[in-house]
Amino acid sequence: MSAEGTGVDLRIEGLRAGYGGAEILHGIDLEVPAGSVAALVGANGAGKSTLLAAVLGTVPRTAGRVLLGGEPLPAGVRAATSRGIAIVPEGRRVFARRTVRDNLLVGAWGRRDRAGVRADLESTYARFPALERRGGQPAGALSGGEAQMLAIGMALMSRPRVLLLDEPSLGLAPVVVDAVLAEVRALADDGMTVLLVEQVVRKALRVADRGHVLRLGEIVVEGAAADLVDDVAVTQAYLGR
Ligand SMILES: Nc1ncnc2c1ncn2[C@@H]1O[C@H](COP(=O)(O)OP(=O)(O)OP(=O)(O)O)[C@@H](O)[C@H]1O
Ligand SMILES: [Mg+2]
Repeated sequence: MSAEGTGVDLRIEGLRAGYGGAEILHGIDLEVPAGSVAALVGANGAGKSTLLAAVLGTVPRTAGRVLLGGEPLPAGVRAATSRGIAIVPEGRRVFARRTVRDNLLVGAWGRRDRAGVRADLESTYARFPALERRGGQPAGALSGGEAQMLAIGMALMSRPRVLLLDEPSLGLAPVVVDAVLAEVRALADDGMTVLLVEQVVRKALRVADRGHVLRLGEIVVEGAAADLVDDVAVTQAYLGR
């Protein structure tokens, strides 16, 4: 897979960001080691999506910085994309009327290395065999789980070094959530660096290396994911008690 051995670490230092005058993130420090999954969990409105947007710079950063492999990452989608950050936004945005294969090629938009794109298409199909079987069908015909795999596959087609995932479990049946999260784990095992935003806390922690609980724009609990799975402090922070 294209992800193999390509991971770089992502560091977020003292990040503040918000909308207009309203600060939503109040100084976030977070490190995602190369080839690992960091789970960022928290309730509705905690600021998870805002954090991903601030990493990309689509929401203005008012303080702090983002480092990719030790290099400061300028704000802006173009800068982020060209340096190897890909995001899978909330809600599985795929082009319903276009074929699965075309969607994957949209993910490779802007790449000129045709042979590389072809190779990545093959490896994405190898990772997600259902996408290959349905390659010629419209993406709108996919099940929720398949559509999520497609959204991830589209991101992989840009050959990222860091993958930002915003609630991939949303609206999926529990068994399908397990399958999607298992794929997320497999990606990191192949070298991808993953920041996984989730509301299904325990499931996310089970596939993650480290866990970070965001509450009202601040990280309130963090540690080895295995230690956090049964930690009541996580539940309390999450529930806001
Ligand atoms: N475009 C926006 N303009 C103004 N405020 C916003 C905007 N988007 C989000 N917010 C506010 O920022 C805060 C954090 O929202 P955010 O979407 O980051 O939370 P979240 O943790 O991703 O929640 P969810 O689990 O519901 O996706 C909320 O108070 C929200 O109302
Ligand atoms: Mg969100």
